Amino acid sequence: MKVIRRIEEIRKELKVFRQGRRKIGFVPTMGYLHDGHLALVRKARNDCDIVVVSIFVNPLQFGPAEDFKRYPRDERRDLNILEKENVDVVFIPSAEEMYPEPQLVFVYVEKLSEGMCSTFRPGHFRGVATVVAKLFNIVQPDIAYFGEKDYQQLKIIEKMVRDLNFPIRIVPIKTVREYDGVAMSSRNAYLMSDERKVAPFIYKALSEAESLFQAGEKQAEILKNKVRETLESKSLNPSIKVQYIEIRDAETLEEIDEVNTKAVLAIAAYIGNTRLIDNIILE
Ligand code: PAF
Repeated sequence: MKVIRRIEEIRKELKVFRQGRRKIGFVPTMGYLHDGHLALVRKARNDCDIVVVSIFVNPLQFGPAEDFKRYPRDERRDLNILEKENVDVVFIPSAEEMYPEPQLVFVYVEKLSEGMCSTFRPGHFRGVATVVAKLFNIVQPDIAYFGEKDYQQLKIIEKMVRDLNFPIRIVPIKTVREYDGVAMSSRNAYLMSDERKVAPFIYKALSEAESLFQAGEKQAEILKNKVRETLESKSLNPSIKVQYIEIRDAETLEEIDEVNTKAVLAIAAYIGNTRLIDNIILE
């Protein structure tokens, strides 16, 4: 496994594989890897000749009051994990390598970057789309893998690839959950033990709304109220502070009142100081 920190070097390394017509799979990450990331890496390993993983905590996608500084980082642990997964190349650029001068060009995917998480994290998706576009230009993969847990991010990247004609196939991967339903996330590391105990209620609330939907309820307001009831139950200690509960068209992310086509039911909520997101597809 090669660990590369410079853009020029990874370009040189991957050029040889590309000339040999080897299929390159790419998994962009911010590190502090968990089984959710590994599902992406394993799919890439299965589909492709060469697997590239990037580890870069991208300052551009964090707001000034967000957790950029305290975002969990453990390079040695990540490299051990990736070595065991037979990854070929790990790209770990510094912020200076990625942004040697003030970035004046940004990728902003209209409409899809409005509402849901962006209401509470202004500028976040502009930062994500911009860094992913840069990484795509650096790695030039054939296929790139993204988790469905960050559903809005996934739809934004898919649209960016279509609209900007990146010759890259985006493969979505199902959310990987802990034994009790909690969606895997690097930010779960922030949860105190009492907070971790209430975290499964997020998926429980989503699953209950899904059962209601399967039983024939199509009204978005009723489904969302069901989720809210569970999350805001007085018996939860510590409490879960809902940021949003939304039901949107699964492709366009437009708000819908009635679920007649494939839809996403998405949640963002705080448990203590930790912001967690999760979603479920209704179809
Ligand atoms: O999902 C993430 O970890 C990040 O948003 C990504 C796609 C690696 C871009 O920094």
